[in-house]
Amino acid sequence: MQNHTSSLEHLHTDYVDSYVLHGPVAQSGIYPEDKEVWRAMEALHEKNSARALGVSNVSLQQLELFFEFAKVKPKFLQNRCYAASRWDADVRRFCKKNDIVYQGFSLLTANPQVLRSGEVVKMAEKYKTGVEQVVFRFAQQIGMCPLTGTSNSSHMKADLACIQFSLTSAEMSLLENIGA
Ligand SMILES: NC(=O)c1ccc[n+]([C@@H]2O[C@H](COP(=O)([O-])OP(=O)(O)OC[C@H]3O[C@@H](n4cnc5c(N)ncnc54)[C@H](OP(=O)(O)O)[C@@H]3O)[C@@H](O)[C@H]2O)c1
Repeated sequence: MQNHTSSLEHLHTDYVDSYVLHGPVAQSGIYPEDKEVWRAMEALHEKNSARALGVSNVSLQQLELFFEFAKVKPKFLQNRCYAASRWDADVRRFCKKNDIVYQGFSLLTANPQVLRSGEVVKMAEKYKTGVEQVVFRFAQQIGMCPLTGTSNSSHMKADLACIQFSLTSAEMSLLENIGA
C-alpha cells in the first residue's frame, strides 16, 4: 500500500505497532472495498510492517462482520464514545470477549453534558481533580484505553495523573448510566 510506505518513510521506521482502518465505506455492513483494504492490511502484517491491526468507527454489527472475515483478527477497536450508548457498551462487550483493546476517543468532546453534571463535579471535588480526569479514570476502570486529543502539556500531565485515584463501584455505576 502506497500510503503505508509513505507513512513509514515519514516516521523513519520500517514498521508500526498498530495500523488502524479509519472506517468502513458505509454506516452498516461491510463491502468488497472494506474487505480488499483489510486483506491489504493483512499482507502488511504478514510482512511484519504492521505488528497489530485495528478497526475504527464501526458498529457492533460491522465489528462482528470484520472479525468473522479477518484472517488476522483486529487487536484494536477505536470508536467515538458516547455516554448515551452506555459508553458503547455492546461494542466493548464484544471486544472484551474477543481480546480486542477498546480505544475510546472524544470522551470529553462528545460528552459535554457529563462534564457539566453536578454528580461529576462533586466527584472531581472529592478527588481534588478536574471533571476531565474523572471521565478518563472512569474509562480506564471500565476497561477502555482512553485516547485524548490534548495539545496542552499541563492538561496532558493532569490527565495522566488520573491513575492516582480510584472511583468507587457506586460512582462507576452512576457514570456508566449517566447518559442513558
Ligand atoms: N479514529 C478516528 O476516527 C478518530 C477521530 C477523532 C479522534 N481520534 C483520536 O482520538 C484522540 C482523541 O480525540 P479527541 O481529540 O476528540 O478527544 P478529547 O480528549 O475528547 O478532546 C480533546 C479536547 O479536550 C481538551 N482537553 C483534554 N484534556 C483536558 C483537560 N485536562 N482540561 C481541559 N481540557 C482538556 C483538549 O483541549 P487542550 O488541547 O486545550 O487540552 C481538546 O480540546 C485524537 O487525538 C485522535 O488520535 C480518532
